Amino acid sequence: MARDSFAGYAPLYEQIILAAADNPDLVARVLDTPAGAHWSLPLLAATHDLVLSEPGLELAAVYRGASDADPVPLFLEMVHDRWDEVAERMLTRHIQTNECGRTAVLGPVLTWLAAGTDHPVARLDVGTSAGLTLLADRYRLDYGAFGATGPVDSPVVIPCAVTEGLPPIAGELPDLAANVGIDRDPIDITNEKDRRWLVACTWPGTGRTERTAAALDLAQRHPPDVREGDAVADLGAAIATLPDDAAVIITTSWVVGYFDTPTRAAFGQALVEVARDRPIAWVAMEGAGVADEVAQAAAAEAPHATDRSWDVSVMTVTYLHKTRAEHCQLGDVHHHGQSMAWRAPDAPDELWTTA
Ligand SMILES: C[S@@+](CC[C@H](N)C(=O)[O-])C[C@H]1O[C@@H](n2cnc3c(N)ncnc32)[C@H](O)[C@@H]1O
Repeated sequence: MARDSFAGYAPLYEQIILAAADNPDLVARVLDTPAGAHWSLPLLAATHDLVLSEPGLELAAVYRGASDADPVPLFLEMVHDRWDEVAERMLTRHIQTNECGRTAVLGPVLTWLAAGTDHPVARLDVGTSAGLTLLADRYRLDYGAFGATGPVDSPVVIPCAVTEGLPPIAGELPDLAANVGIDRDPIDITNEKDRRWLVACTWPGTGRTERTAAALDLAQRHPPDVREGDAVADLGAAIATLPDDAAVIITTSWVVGYFDTPTRAAFGQALVEVARDRPIAWVAMEGAGVADEVAQAAAAEAPHATDRSWDVSVMTVTYLHKTRAEHCQLGDVHHHGQSMAWRAPDAPDELWTTA
């Protein structure tokens, strides 16, 4: 875990977790919790939550980047001295993500798809969590020399490195006729402890903590339209609430990868159902191979072996209308939106442009 995800990205957590793994007392305590907590993130998030609740702590200053004290002894001491509070969080909470940084890789796709249709465009985000990616048009998406999108004075600035290709980067994201999210278990942004836990699940020193907190502040002032609903059972009902004349963009970011194989197939069939009457573009940002599996189910193809890699994330679009489905790779993306390699064709498929 430490080497795979933190190395080169979250050095503070890499340093802490390597030291924690070498501490027999701490390892024994973690192994004494239920098996679901036997990995690094529950321990790190539970401690981070405690730190966020007490900003005067020295470890809090280190996490904020306001102190260059060695985090390792501070972390070990805190977990040792306050284990009951840490363990209580590890047992009662589960790791949650709502990464607003992902809007940086989504933005150019929305621009590209909207430019390819004469219909108004409506978006449904499936597995939206707290709905932070629904606020994409309120963030400053900064692609360096490639341009920037969104308000210059946004409190949420998301840097994204373009490593390949020329993504369409517009000054503003396209207007949406509707912008709705559904989640099986949406996060209540009006609940202070739920908000703090979402922030606690981010990794200090990566910019994600401050950015998620700022996005949550923004969400409280401009609440996204988040509804409770299941990706398969409630997809049709959610789509039916969108304007009739709209071409629909369904987005999923790091959601379908959590579905088991039958649920992926059922999601593919649900997409086919909702596309009978109107054009749909399903934009997926998922681990490599995940969306391909769903698209095969949607096209009623026998599933072929896919590479279910979590190391590489890819962005794809699957166009569906009436009885047809086309699947297209758009590029590689960082799972928190840090970078993108844009490999999309010049224009979307005719299934979208002529619908
Ligand atoms: C890893 S989080 C990603 C959240 C968000 N899409 C993002 O990119 O930040 C996965 C989300 O999918 C939701 N989810 C998982 N299975 C679902 C289902 N069958 N229907 C609706 N939401 C689901 C979870 O509740 C969780 O909020």
